[in-house]
Amino acid sequence: MASYNAIDNGSPYGSGDPYYNASTGYITPTNPKKPLSKWIKFGIPVAVLVIAGAVVAGVVASHHGHSSSPSSSSSSGSPAAASSAVSAKNAVGIFPTATDSEFMVPIYPSTTNAAAYSTPTFNPSNVAFAWPKDPFTFSSNPSPTAVRTDRPRLIAPKYKWDALPSLIANDPYLKRWNETIFGNATAYFSLPPVAYHLDGLVAFAYVYRMTNDTKWVDRTWAEIQNAAGNGTTSFGPTNDKWNTIHFLDTAEFSAAFGIAYDWLYDIWSDEQKSQIRFTLNLYGLGPGLSVYQGDPSSVGWWRNGIYGNWNCVCNGGLTLGALAILGDDTTGNAEALLGFTVDNAKQNCALAVTNDGTWNETANYWYFGTTGHAEMSSSLITAAGSDFGLLTTNSNLNLTGLYHMYAFGPTSLFNYGDHGPNKFSTTANSMIFYASQYNAPRYALFQRDQADAAEPWSMFWYDPTISGAFWNDAPLDHFFDYAGDQWGSMRSSWTDINALYVAIKGGTLQGHQAHGDLDCGDFVLDALGTRWAGELGSGDYLSTGYFESELQSSSRWLYYRKRTEGQNTILVNQQNQDVTAHPTMTHDSSGTLQGSSTVFKASSDSTAFSVFDLASAYFNVTSFSRGVRFLNGRQQVLLQDDINAQGSVMWRMHTNATVSIDQSGTSATLTLDSQTLKMEIVNAPSGAQFAKGEAVRLSGDPPLPSGQSDQPNPDVTVLSISLPAGQYSLQVLFNPQWPGLGASDYVTPKSVPLGSWSLTSHN
Ligand SMILES: *[C@@H]1O[C@H](CO)[C@@H](O)[C@H](O)[C@H]1NC(C)=O
Ligand SMILES: *[C@@H]1O[C@H](CO)[C@@H](O)[C@H](O)[C@H]1NC(C)=O
Ligand SMILES: *[C@@H]1O[C@H](CO)[C@@H](O)[C@H](O)[C@H]1NC(C)=O
Ligand SMILES: *[C@@H]1O[C@H](CO)[C@@H](O)[C@H](O)[C@H]1NC(C)=O
Ligand SMILES: *[C@@H]1O[C@H](CO)[C@@H](O)[C@H](O)[C@H]1NC(C)=O
Ligand SMILES: *[C@@H]1O[C@H](CO)[C@@H](O)[C@H](O)[C@H]1NC(C)=O
Ligand SMILES: *[C@@H]1O[C@H](CO)[C@@H](O)[C@H](O)[C@H]1NC(C)=O
Ligand SMILES: *[C@@H]1O[C@H](CO)[C@@H](O)[C@H](O)[C@H]1NC(C)=O
Repeated sequence: MASYNAIDNGSPYGSGDPYYNASTGYITPTNPKKPLSKWIKFGIPVAVLVIAGAVVAGVVASHHGHSSSPSSSSSSGSPAAASSAVSAKNAVGIFPTATDSEFMVPIYPSTTNAAAYSTPTFNPSNVAFAWPKDPFTFSSNPSPTAVRTDRPRLIAPKYKWDALPSLIANDPYLKRWNETIFGNATAYFSLPPVAYHLDGLVAFAYVYRMTNDTKWVDRTWAEIQNAAGNGTTSFGPTNDKWNTIHFLDTAEFSAAFGIAYDWLYDIWSDEQKSQIRFTLNLYGLGPGLSVYQGDPSSVGWWRNGIYGNWNCVCNGGLTLGALAILGDDTTGNAEALLGFTVDNAKQNCALAVTNDGTWNETANYWYFGTTGHAEMSSSLITAAGSDFGLLTTNSNLNLTGLYHMYAFGPTSLFNYGDHGPNKFSTTANSMIFYASQYNAPRYALFQRDQADAAEPWSMFWYDPTISGAFWNDAPLDHFFDYAGDQWGSMRSSWTDINALYVAIKGGTLQGHQAHGDLDCGDFVLDALGTRWAGELGSGDYLSTGYFESELQSSSRWLYYRKRTEGQNTILVNQQNQDVTAHPTMTHDSSGTLQGSSTVFKASSDSTAFSVFDLASAYFNVTSFSRGVRFLNGRQQVLLQDDINAQGSVMWRMHTNATVSIDQSGTSATLTLDSQTLKMEIVNAPSGAQFAKGEAVRLSGDPPLPSGQSDQPNPDVTVLSISLPAGQYSLQVLFNPQWPGLGASDYVTPKSVPLGSWSLTSHN
């Protein structure tokens, strides 16, 4: 992560930046292995273990079919006096989540309830569910350093804590989340300190405020002592315990200390407060201010031209820490920092959302970036009465909730490029914050049923006056066609875990903070509750040259998972794609909307397609377009490549399925999770046949940097079709074996050149 392409936006780095390489214009740790602090060595693995537990539970459960956790949707316990609105809400309840999909997606009930599943709306006049008005009056000319006089300041002011118990009693989501946070805090309590720095501190502070039981304060203090290096396990160098070389750690500790200081302000002794401030200044805010003051020994590459998660997380953490101690801080750091972080985040973090709402890095990094942006915006609003433009400086930021919804398939994300740390270490609850800030209730309705919705932030960001269903009148398809990202998302239903989903991308291969792959034309495909064509994810971030640059010659592009051969696309001449690719995209959709019912079947003429001109992504083609479309009322998918290549052509797809290829070689049967998908080559030069192989680098590839190896992909099969140089229209049909659909119910499409595709071209 500690690397960045400075060429894309021309921003000059201070030559003082220790990782600036003047000859390449890239920022790279000289030896990425060296900065590993002791803290990372034993701190991170424990966090990863805790996180991995959640994933393992999901994977283990996957051998037992589509199980789901029990729903607590009953209205039991509602006092007789509860308003009918409260009873109605509790009667609908919360939907359970699947335990057997990687992302633990919600399982929507098969019910029609037009009254409950209505248009997404906030109903502020519904007093049973409304937050009170903030009693504090901010100046009409707010400033980040002019903060409210009562505590807490950050995200959850006192008037919200006071209102919370009655809102919890009336709202099933708040009730469930409160219970889950208590459960998580109890689980963390039994583990040794350090394992879960931010989540643990915030959960402990939350539970203390909800119970007044000081055991939670004592435990929070033990965490603070430990993170200050004063606990039983010391770590890190004396003057850099929060690992400024990887400034994200510094920032996350600063945020955690800020929340602990602020939420428990009234219970800390003056001595404890002074110690927290001392440590926060020493390891967090002091180094942060050095970055802004241009200290050449500081690690501040993240502050200029970084339209990505680093800028959001670093500025967010420093801002929370600074706001927390403002007024008590005798060093001046807090006040000085607020003079930098807000403007810097407006010029960087807020611009990580492109014109169509796409997150500039990857769909996984959207979680980290928007979490940092939402925490920072929310804290400024509650502490100082304004977001100071963080939410509005990029007028397309309100579209980023659409990006997340459409990148979220029936079973998991369209997770192209790098994934960062496991997503369970962060959440998509920025959706709940943005819903209220941008009056986009659909975002909160989408997120509230997700497995990661329960966390303290949601308790304060959620507006319980909301009603309706996110799928009501939601278009099934959306095309993100800004030149830098360009991708299409198409599905057969929003509420069926078995739905057919195809997402495919073109876009540029540079300008993604070195988190992308050489993957123009790459796609994922979900059907029957599983993922048939999928992504391999990140390589090892500590591999030599992994973040070297986005240049053609970069070592990054030597690693299989980042190479074109590691993607679900066409490989020409066994060569990587051209990093200067600038594809174009066309698309169309029947514009099908899902109605209020969760039971939805598209009509037979409902369809959508995306077509990309990818010629600029290849060195040895004179023309190449790739298109994907739905057939037969969104029950089948056609993937077509119209190509004229001077080098060998290889069609590739990565799958976790077991693959069997028939004798003719023109059809393949894939089985996965007890389901079946049939694939057929329907148009190709004679002799075109499926082959299968392992997801490993091809012989003849250039060598990896010395001593390095690829991540193994042991359960993955590569399905491929190899052709010599020439001009083809290669068409591959995907037929999920839907229950109740007989062989004669599937269509075989006629051959239509991509340039002539239309909504009706395949009728
Ligand atoms: C929050 O959840 C805890 C644990 O289930 C419960 O004891 C407490 O009463 C809940 N708080 C409210 C206000 O309902
Ligand atoms: C919190 O508790 C829920 C419910 O038990 C669990 O699914 C989730 O994994 C826990 N979260 C963390 C971060 O431990
Ligand atoms: C905790 O203490 C505060 C302040 O004394 C009080 O207002 C609140 O009702 C108490 N909460 C609980 C759950 O006892
Ligand atoms: C940690 O110990 C140092 C040195 O004794 C002290 O100055 C500092 O306040 C302590 N920090 C915390 C949070 O206890
Ligand atoms: C985003 O904001 C623009 C301008 O206010 C508005 O027209 C559009 O409907 C909003 N989009 C969403 C998804 O909320
Ligand atoms: C990322 O965002 C910045 C600022 O909005 C923009 O200049 C850059 O081109 C974006 N990258 C891509 C690939 O669009
Ligand atoms: C294989 O399954 C794992 C776990 O669900 C997933 O992360 C990965 O993306 C899948 N790989 C492919 C190629 O579908
Ligand atoms: C393929 O492209 C490479 C790079 O431009 C070039 O060196 C090579 O000669 C080309 N091969 C063919 C068969 O055109």
